[in-house]
Amino acid sequence: MIHTRVCDVLGIVHPIAQAGMARQQTSAELVAAVSAAGGLGILGCLGRPADEAVAEIRRIRALTDRPFGVNFVLHLLDEDTFAACLAERVPVFSFFRGDPAEAVARARETGAVTLHQVTTVEEATQACVAGVDVLVAQGTEAGGHQGPVPLMSLLPDVTTVAQERPVLAAGGIVDGSGLAAVLCLGAAGALMGTRFLATPECPASPAHKAAILRARPGATVASGIFDMIWGNEWPGVQARALRNALTARWGGREGELRARRSEALAALQMAESTGDFEEMILLAGEGSGRISEIRPAGEVVQTVVTDAARILSEWGARVAP
Ligand SMILES: Cc1cc2nc3c(=O)[nH]c(=O)nc-3n(C[C@H](O)[C@H](O)[C@H](O)COP(=O)(O)O)c2cc1C
Repeated sequence: MIHTRVCDVLGIVHPIAQAGMARQQTSAELVAAVSAAGGLGILGCLGRPADEAVAEIRRIRALTDRPFGVNFVLHLLDEDTFAACLAERVPVFSFFRGDPAEAVARARETGAVTLHQVTTVEEATQACVAGVDVLVAQGTEAGGHQGPVPLMSLLPDVTTVAQERPVLAAGGIVDGSGLAAVLCLGAAGALMGTRFLATPECPASPAHKAAILRARPGATVASGIFDMIWGNEWPGVQARALRNALTARWGGREGELRARRSEALAALQMAESTGDFEEMILLAGEGSGRISEIRPAGEVVQTVVTDAARILSEWGARVAP
């Protein structure tokens, strides 16, 4: 059992949160399984219409009475979906990218606790000014869109800026040793995305899950090509995904890709329909290389905490004051 300040602030048992990944990778089943196990499940709302978000929130509430969250990427925020989640009085709102001041104020008016994921010390300072309750320090190891700084460098600086606010660490954490390590660096807990992709409850495609299990350390690459193909706007931000034939073909050829975007998008859509993971965009973090099996999300929460507690107590017993 590991109890930290983030457990009190979020009303959870274990200091573990499941990242609010996008519509294709989070569902009521995943969120409820993590929350029911004592962690914080977060429903991704990027690309999710308001009526679907409300239906998922109600399904989460039918599955568990534990706290859960919803996630919004601020520069792509869908006002209808955000307003619907506020009206549902979701207990936790998590944000990423941009100044969270307005969104935080609106969430707090409903009594929600707020989280903001940051990738630099400057973003952490801005989040504190905005009155965020919990910061997430996201290292460059993270899957999906991420920042430039490795977690081991970023985390201690973010905890300094955060002062009394708890900080969750994110990026490359997939097991108990990862949780133990970030607690030693000053975090109050861990937020994991990729580890929860490899669970039966996660709605990610079977090809995505299979590719994560096959991955070895070094199997991912951060690049701007993914958004270029999708036609998404994440100015100045790269996303991390598994290396495959698609990344080998287009990596470093952004100029040509821009001109041949519709061809690349058609090839991607074809690969998605056939499940050809060499030609798909498979967002995932550097921790993929250490995930070897699909495990139920609740078991992931329990195992990560139990293993971290064992590692910390074994080390504590070896240290002379
Ligand atoms: C497939 C995938 C989709 C993601 N989508 C989002 C998102 O919609 N909003 C967000 O705030 N973060 C998103 N992230 C980033 C996570 O919030 C988190 O920082 C990351 O998963 C942590 O690193 P890890 O994957 O190594 O655990 C995504 C990550 C992945 C792997």
